[in-house]
Amino acid sequence: LLNIFAFFNFISISFGFYLPGLAPVSYCENEKENCKVSFSNIPVYVNRLVSIESIIPYEYSAFDFCEPVGSPSSPTENLGQVLFGERIRPSPYSLKFNENKTCEKACVRKYDTSKKEDFDKLKFLQYGMLFSYENRWIVDNMPIAWCYQTTSNENFCSTGFPIGCYVDEKGNPKDACIIDENYRDHKNSYILFNHVAITIHYNKVSSDEARLVKAELEPSSIKTGDCNLHAEPLVIPHPDKDDKMTGTVEIPYTYSIAFENTEILWASRWDYILGSLPHTNIQWFSIMNSLVIVLFLSGMVAMVMIRSLHKDIARYNDMESVEEAQEEFGWKLVHGDVFRPPSKAMLLSVLNGVGTQVISMTFITLVFACLGFLSPANRGALGTTSVLVFICLGTVAGYVSARLYKTLGGEKWKTNVITTSFLISGIVFVLFFVMNLILWGEKSSAAIPFSTLIAILALWFGISVPLTFIGAYFGYKRRPLEHPVRTNQIPRQIPEQVLYTKPLTCILMGGVLPFGCIFIQLFFILNSIWSHQLYYMFGFLFLVVIILVITCSETTILLCYFHLAAEDYRWWWRSFLTSGFTAVYFFLYAIHYYISKLAIEGFASAILYFGYTLIMTIMIFLFTGTIGFTACYYFVTKIYSVVKVD
Ligand SMILES: *[C@@H]1O[C@H](CO)[C@@H](O)[C@H](O)[C@H]1NC(C)=O
Repeated sequence: LLNIFAFFNFISISFGFYLPGLAPVSYCENEKENCKVSFSNIPVYVNRLVSIESIIPYEYSAFDFCEPVGSPSSPTENLGQVLFGERIRPSPYSLKFNENKTCEKACVRKYDTSKKEDFDKLKFLQYGMLFSYENRWIVDNMPIAWCYQTTSNENFCSTGFPIGCYVDEKGNPKDACIIDENYRDHKNSYILFNHVAITIHYNKVSSDEARLVKAELEPSSIKTGDCNLHAEPLVIPHPDKDDKMTGTVEIPYTYSIAFENTEILWASRWDYILGSLPHTNIQWFSIMNSLVIVLFLSGMVAMVMIRSLHKDIARYNDMESVEEAQEEFGWKLVHGDVFRPPSKAMLLSVLNGVGTQVISMTFITLVFACLGFLSPANRGALGTTSVLVFICLGTVAGYVSARLYKTLGGEKWKTNVITTSFLISGIVFVLFFVMNLILWGEKSSAAIPFSTLIAILALWFGISVPLTFIGAYFGYKRRPLEHPVRTNQIPRQIPEQVLYTKPLTCILMGGVLPFGCIFIQLFFILNSIWSHQLYYMFGFLFLVVIILVITCSETTILLCYFHLAAEDYRWWWRSFLTSGFTAVYFFLYAIHYYISKLAIEGFASAILYFGYTLIMTIMIFLFTGTIGFTACYYFVTKIYSVVKVD
């Protein structure tokens, strides 16, 4: 068993870090003479600014920092980057390979506070510091990391650095003020970081050429603009009681650059960033925790199968006389009703169709991710892949939905295929659109450009919908799924149920164990989404998803057996909802996470948080629900095919 763990660990580490398809770039000092295929200019790019205290990201230009001279073009972005709010822009910082610079001026910004527009710009900078907004800079497709000692004396490398620090009236500094002890003395002030010292580490591959393996940066605040680190910090004055400022404010932006040779190899250049993320021990703990649940459940299922089910089947099949059969009880009695189509068969088949689409997308994306194609260095690849895979899997949704609907005796096939194409996607799109409106209102960079919205609609109507129709066509042409027993004309009376076989109790219980298996991993995922950390442990995630699939099916089968044995035959919807209820627990957990872990303020942020959470909840509901339904369907078909029914 330990070997298997070691193997998965190996997969997640070796593939998670390796970046196929991303060729290393070589740099050299003098482009004309020594370089064949390498460059001496190293462009620095700036990404959107994010905050852990607000969900709303802003573009670099929103803060009136230095702009590049001329108008160099931004790198092209893929669908995933645009959808998930990345905005990579050129910066005024220009680097030449192995050319140290001390105290270079980027620009000087002057603000005349009596002018409304200047005043507003300063206020927005202060707002950015108050909410701990962070710059994200990129060089050679690598984040420029800000490494510092945490209060518990660990070395931590963040992929962003704060724009400034705010100290309140009582002298309590924000986290960003960790840079300098003395900032505490400046009560109720905004200290802007206007100087950065960048250190770039390179690794020589030949006498002239080198690859960049590490980029670090140290921000500081220097009033004078002469890069003297011991000078006074640059404090932006607080507006007075009438929300006014006086005088002019001058902000010099400066930077220094140093290149250093190191032994770090290009292949392991992400290690220092990923290495300072939460460690794998806790992940192992979470996997162990889930495995215990799986073993426990499997034991239960095995017991039910071997003891009760086997005994039942043997007894049912041994029965000689008709009188004996009359006195029978248990799940065999409901054989004439167990395949009676449920009410709302249309909705059930649509949910299962789209659920199958979600499940397939998850697995395909995870396989790509585990093979290392979607690592953090491959920006936006995760988003792009999952969206495109989802769209292409429309066929699967159409097929499953149509076939199940036909099996359940449905006749309105047109409504069925239209609902499959539009119901869930429509709900998600509307949620997405409403959140986008809010982001537009906040002038945030995460707002999707209008052209991208049109592109999404085109993908949906132009590719996804036709594929769904094709799938549905084939699903309808096939014969319906066969059931081992016939359904009686008249439904049986369902006896009074004890507490633990009542529908509501079953459904409430159903989600507990699957949720218990995933919640530690969920914590890491939520953390990486909302604190904008990188997520790369796809090996672990894959294991956890498999464990989730196993627990969902086992719980549902177990509960399904219990209520069939209690002669309640309404399992169709119940099996879907039993494991689908995991999503409700997820939603509750997300609320808990919002209250206890995030210090997010503002109404717009809250709406965005819950909007995104709702979309995730819908996906998890479809995923787990479909797993439960399929497992139970399989189980019911199996057990009724082995008993003799006259
Ligand atoms: C640049 O600065 C670093 C660190 O200060 C030093 O080790 C290196 O030799 C300098 N490089 C050049 C080309 O001067």
